[in-house]
Amino acid sequence: MNPELFRSRYNQLVIDINHHNQLYYSNNSPIISDEEYDRLYRELKELEEQFPELISEYSPTRKIGNTEPENIFKKTLHTRKMLSLSNTYNFNEVLNFFNRITKALETEKLQVVCEPKFDGISIELVYEKGKLKRAVTRGDGITGDDVTANVMQIKTIPHHLKGFSGNLSIRGEIFMNFSAFEKLNEERQIKGEKLFMNPRNAAGGTLHLKDTSEVSKRPLDIFVYDLLSPADHLGYHDKMIDFFMDCGLPVYSRSDVFDIEDIINIKTTIDDWDKKRKNLEFPIDGLVFKLNSFSQRDSMGTNIKDPKWGFAYKFPSDEMETKLLDIELNVGRTGSITPVAVLDPVLLDGTRVSRASLHNFEYIKEKNLMLNDIVKVKKAGEIIPQVISSVLHTPESIEIKEPELCPACGNPLQRKNTTQKIKSSSEETETSYIEEKNIRCINHSCPSRLKNSLIHFVSRDMMNIEAIGEKLIEQMFSEGLIRRGVDIYKLTRQQILSLERKGEKSADIIITSIEKSRHTQLNRVINAIGIPGTGKANSRNLSEKFHTIDNLLEISKNIDSFREELLEIDGIGDNVANEIISFFSNDDEQSHLEELSEVLVFQDLTSSTGKIPYSFCITGTLSKPRRELEEIILKNGGNIKNDVSSKLDYLLCGENSGSKLKKAEKLGVKIMAESEFWKILS
Ligand code: IVH
Repeated sequence: MNPELFRSRYNQLVIDINHHNQLYYSNNSPIISDEEYDRLYRELKELEEQFPELISEYSPTRKIGNTEPENIFKKTLHTRKMLSLSNTYNFNEVLNFFNRITKALETEKLQVVCEPKFDGISIELVYEKGKLKRAVTRGDGITGDDVTANVMQIKTIPHHLKGFSGNLSIRGEIFMNFSAFEKLNEERQIKGEKLFMNPRNAAGGTLHLKDTSEVSKRPLDIFVYDLLSPADHLGYHDKMIDFFMDCGLPVYSRSDVFDIEDIINIKTTIDDWDKKRKNLEFPIDGLVFKLNSFSQRDSMGTNIKDPKWGFAYKFPSDEMETKLLDIELNVGRTGSITPVAVLDPVLLDGTRVSRASLHNFEYIKEKNLMLNDIVKVKKAGEIIPQVISSVLHTPESIEIKEPELCPACGNPLQRKNTTQKIKSSSEETETSYIEEKNIRCINHSCPSRLKNSLIHFVSRDMMNIEAIGEKLIEQMFSEGLIRRGVDIYKLTRQQILSLERKGEKSADIIITSIEKSRHTQLNRVINAIGIPGTGKANSRNLSEKFHTIDNLLEISKNIDSFREELLEIDGIGDNVANEIISFFSNDDEQSHLEELSEVLVFQDLTSSTGKIPYSFCITGTLSKPRRELEEIILKNGGNIKNDVSSKLDYLLCGENSGSKLKKAEKLGVKIMAESEFWKILS
C-alpha cells in the first residue's frame, strides 16, 4: 500500500502530539485528556510500524516527553535514559503483556511486581556519597530541568541517606495530595489566580516555581520506585525497595510480588485497586506491572521509548457527585441551543471539572434535573464530562426553564416540526410529525452562529486551513475582518498584520495555509458551509450528484424538482432534504456559495488511480480508523455509503460486524474482508 496516502495524517499527528506535549510538560496545562492523548499516540505508533518510511525526526516517538520546554531551569543530563511505559485501558492487553514475557522467558520462573501508578511528575534524584546533589525532571528522557533547589524543600526527601554513603541515582514520582491541591486552588481562587486543573499540574507548576520559598509553602511529596544507577543493584525490585526503605527514602509500601502462574487473580487485583484508589490521599491513575528480576528485565530489553519488561494499566473514568450551579447556553453554528452545566468544581479522574454537557432541554426534562440539584457527573467517552443524573433535589432546587430568546442575538428561538416516516404494520409508509429535540436560533446572522460556523469552516475535515484556529477566528471576527468563510479568502496581508501579536512570519504562515486550502473539492465545501443534517457522507453524495456549486444553486431554484433529486440520494430522507432546501432558499447562504465558487479552485475527486471504482460501506472493527479507510477508498476512485442497500457494491467487514452484515447477506451484497481489501489495493 502507498504510504503517501497517510503522509498528511501522519504529519498532522506529529504536530498535534508535539503541541500537546508542550502543553503538558512545559505549561502544565493540557487541553486534552490522557485517554485522548493516548489514542492519538497509538494511532501515530501504528502508522510508524506499518510505514517506517514516514517516520519524521520530529516524531514524539523518537523523544520522551517534550524537548523544548521554555524555562529558566538548567538542562541537565540524566544518569541513564529515563524511559516511559506502554499503557492500556484494556484488560486484554495486560494479559497480552503477561503472555509476551512468559513466551520470551519460557524456561524461567517469573515473578512480577504490581505497584500503583502515581500520577505526578517523574524525577531523578542523584545522591553522591549518600548526599542529595541533584534533582532533575524527566524532560525528554535524556535531559531534564534541574529543579534541585525546589526539590530540597520537599520535607519527605532525605538530604542524607540513612546508613549508605555511596552513589545512587533514583527515580520517583513527585505529587501533591488531594487535600493540599484543593487548599492551594481555594487560595488561588481567592487571589483571582488561574486554578490548576489537577494535582499533577499543581505538582509540575510548583516544581517549576522561581521562588523556592513559595515551594516550601506547598506540600509536595514523593514515592520512589526505580534505580537508574547502579542499575542492577541487589538484583530484584522487591530487594531494591526494601533497601530504599532502609535508606529512609519514601516508598509506597513493600513490593507486592506475585508468581506469573497467579495471573488468574490479576483482574481481582485491578478491581480492588480501582475501588481502593477513591479513598487514597494521593492521585494514582493506574497500576504498573514489572518483572521483579533485573536480569530477566535485561533479557527482555527495551523499545526506543519504553521497556519490554513493564506495562501499565490505566483505570477507566470516574463518576462524581456535585452541585449544579448554573446553566450556560451555547449557540452552535446551526443555531441549536446547547445547555451547559456550570458545576461546583469537582475532581474527576484527577481533573478539575467545572462544566459538563447537558445535551438539550429534552434531556434536562427526561432526567428531571433542576438548578441547585446534586448531580452525578461522568466523563463521557472518557473525554467530555456529562451530567448523567440528578441524585438529590435540594430545598433551593428550581426548575430549569427553556429560553425563549437567543442569548447571543436576542431573536426568538424556534422549535421546528420535522417529519419522519413511520412504518405501519402493513409495511406501507405514512408520514407523521415528531417534535425536534433542539430549540434553535434561526437567525442566519446571529454572531454566535457565524463565529461557530467559521470555526467549523476552517477545521480539518472542512476547508482544512491549518494556520487558523479558534482563537484567530475569534480575533478576526471581533475585529470585523471576517463574517463568512469566503471572507477568509479575501483577507489581505495588511489586514492580518493589523491584528494584535501578528507579525510578518505569522502572516506568511496564515496566507500560505489559506492559499493551500483554496485548491479544494466540492464535497469539502459542502461540508464546510454547514448545512444542518449534512455531514461528510451526505456532502460527498451531494457533490457526486450535482458536481458544481453553480449547478447546485441553479437546481435549488425549483424546490419541487430539487426535493425529488435529493430524495433519490441514498441516505437523504425527508428531514435532511427539508434542511437542505431551507438552507439553499436563504439569500445569505446563496450569496455566500456564489462568492465561494468565485474564489475557490476545484479539484476533481475522481482524478484518482481508479483501482476500486465501487461503493463501499464499512462496518465492524478494522485495523485502521474508519476515517482513514474512507480516505483510501475515495483516493482510489471508490465512494462511501453509510447504509447497506441493494445498490451497494461491497460491505467492508471487520470484526464484530452486526446488523449491517446480516442485511448485506440478506440483500446479496458482496462482502469483503479487510485482507481482501488490502490485496486489491496493493
Ligand atoms: S516504572 C522504565 N513505576 O508512569 C519505566 N513508573 O506512564 C519506569 N509512574 O513515566 C517506570 N508510578 O513516571 C513506574 N510505580 C511506578 C510508577 C511509574 C508512576 C510513572 C512514571 C512513568 C509513567 C509511565
